[in-house]
Amino acid sequence: MRMIFIGPPGAGKGTQAARLVERLAIPHISTGDMFRAAVKAGTPLGKQAKACMDKGELVPDEVTIGLVKERIAQADAQEGFMLDGFPRTLPQAEALDEALDQPLDAVVLLEVPDDLIVERIVGRRSDPETGAIYHLKFNPPPAEVMGRLKHRADDTEEACRNRLGVYHGQTAPIIPFYEGKGLVKRVDGVGSADEVTERIRAALGR
Ligand code: AP5
Repeated sequence: MRMIFIGPPGAGKGTQAARLVERLAIPHISTGDMFRAAVKAGTPLGKQAKACMDKGELVPDEVTIGLVKERIAQADAQEGFMLDGFPRTLPQAEALDEALDQPLDAVVLLEVPDDLIVERIVGRRSDPETGAIYHLKFNPPPAEVMGRLKHRADDTEEACRNRLGVYHGQTAPIIPFYEGKGLVKRVDGVGSADEVTERIRAALGR
């Protein structure tokens, strides 16, 4: 299966991807995670990405497209992949179309209203050792990991509102692009994480 997750920041893409990739036996390819790894490693790509990410802006298309093309050319992505956070602009969607030798199977659009997003984002914490994503209220972390949890630099209210504006202005226009191909599966992202997983599985028929 070759699928894409689209949705506003904090919609639950990363949470749901982690629950689904094992069952689908495909790699989870998150451009946000790739950029955060580059920031942590202090590479030139990481330095360029950090300046954009901290403000909630997009990393330039030419950088992002090259990174994803390299990643989906790797051996583990030949039978399928779950792209999370890419594409995010029309040029990225068009470049992905050109790069693929087999068509996409599904584009899952996780829908969550803006007024729920800020609370999800500001309360998010992640475990740098396991990669697990928690929420202080909605998915509280166990006490023993609390001390090592990280709060993302772009998870402030200000950066979140900027990311929402970027999503509506630059990313939402790719929805009609994929609707025209009959690929979009709209999934209600409001409810418990378990409920949302079931809705995605039903939408994918898997
Ligand atoms: P990225 O990491 O992709 O961020 P994002 O799209 O803003 O998405 P998030 O990771 O914030 O949210 P999510 O939908 O995965 O939600 P999560 O599951 O964590 O990108 C970061 C930055 O990198 C971008 O701003 C940009 O600068 C750059 N970038 C990345 N890709 C790019 C591209 N293609 N082009 C250019 N630049 C790019 O959930 C959020 C919280 O909610 C968690 O705390 C979770 O526990 C909680 N939660 C999850 N599900 C539920 C639920 N059902 N109910 C209640 N709470 C829930």
